[in-house]
Amino acid sequence: MFDSKTRTLVVVGAQWGDEGKGKLVDVLAERADWVVRYQGGANAGHTVHIGETSFVLHQIPSGILHPGVRCAIGNGVVLDPDTLFHEIDELVQDGVDVEGRLYVSERAHLVLPYHKLVDAESAASKAIGTTGRGIGPAYEDKIARRGVRVLDLRHPSRVRELVEAGAAHANGQLARFGSERRADVDETVALLERLAPRLLPLAEDVGLSIHRAIKGDAAVLLEGAQGSLLDIDHGTYPYVTSSSTTSGGAAIGVGIAPTEIDAVLGVVKAYTTRVGNGPLPTELEGTLAEEVRRLGNEFGATTGRARRCGWFDAVVVRFATRVNGLTGLAVTKLDVLDTLDRIALCTGYEVDGRLYTEFPGDVDALERAAPVYEWFDGWRRSTADARRLEDLPTEARRYLDRIEALVEAPIQFVSVGTRRDQIIGVD
Ligand code: GTP
Repeated sequence: MFDSKTRTLVVVGAQWGDEGKGKLVDVLAERADWVVRYQGGANAGHTVHIGETSFVLHQIPSGILHPGVRCAIGNGVVLDPDTLFHEIDELVQDGVDVEGRLYVSERAHLVLPYHKLVDAESAASKAIGTTGRGIGPAYEDKIARRGVRVLDLRHPSRVRELVEAGAAHANGQLARFGSERRADVDETVALLERLAPRLLPLAEDVGLSIHRAIKGDAAVLLEGAQGSLLDIDHGTYPYVTSSSTTSGGAAIGVGIAPTEIDAVLGVVKAYTTRVGNGPLPTELEGTLAEEVRRLGNEFGATTGRARRCGWFDAVVVRFATRVNGLTGLAVTKLDVLDTLDRIALCTGYEVDGRLYTEFPGDVDALERAAPVYEWFDGWRRSTADARRLEDLPTEARRYLDRIEALVEAPIQFVSVGTRRDQIIGVD
């Protein structure tokens, strides 16, 4: 993937998240010098299986699992310092050397205990189905210019002032929700005082470091979390996350120019899943839904929540191709479909008697959308050992060819299992 032309690559989810970006980043990081996270927070949960050990990384880029790769958390991320250190400690326990390889943008905003409190007590958060990790409220404070950034920790008196303002706002919200719980300023300041000596040595101008790395011809991977359909602008609003998950967000969230990005790889499952509420036009029901959920182990890495499952939606991925400028696709979890007799692909929606082949912006229209399907014969044999396209059954290749044609992006990888080696690189 990285070659003389592609030095800066964005890996982005092209559905509703959980597409297996963690595995792709892990595979690609082998040839990267830097891996940088650009948005989201501890609500993401990349899972990487290496040998017998499973690593679930919430905030640290999965590139950390490759010795020698430097990792950074960009300004676009909202950082929960407490869970960051838990994550670092767990990695160290599992023998991963993190020392001197992990940097945090000094401009990144912090997720504080009162953000989690507001998230937990808000009916709106429940309606959207948030993970309750304070991500939305932390982004709200960022936009309202009430946030606490990593660099503020260098100035203890400023920290108290900012926390007082943030806590006062949070308490107003909690009172409006009818909650008895309140933010505690002293506790929050004490927490930050305790964490600052560990966090500040990691703080850097990440935008500058990555710009210099790119100038020096380094291979840089920008790692997205969640998926394009959860993007605050382009997703199924209001059932979205609070950040720009699409490739434009990568430039902003790392602090580099869009012109410094060479390629964008969109990761998609061979079917569709979604966590939480909101439209999912191709959603399956009954025993088939349960079967796909079981075969794909579709339970959240962070929350354990069962994911809703559906057929592959080419309207969604075509849209994701356009808004991200995808230069290639990685199709994951093809093996999950191995035992099915018939497989459907959604090519359009019928809404109130009108055919849509482009993704509509109105969630009400999506809720009423009746998917138009093309049906494919299943291949009914294992793809787990395929390492070249030619190793795949004809039916599987036919299915992939049709996806490629409908979404208008070339398939560059096909993943056929959880392990690092279970991947087909397409030349
Ligand atoms: P988010 O950033 O939260 O969206 O996560 P993600 O896109 O990194 O997805 P995550 O790693 O949480 O979920 C993907 C799951 O699918 C992990 O358990 C992977 O090991 C697994 N997985 C990835 N690729 C494949 C594959 O080709 N086949 C199978 N069976 N499992 C896979």
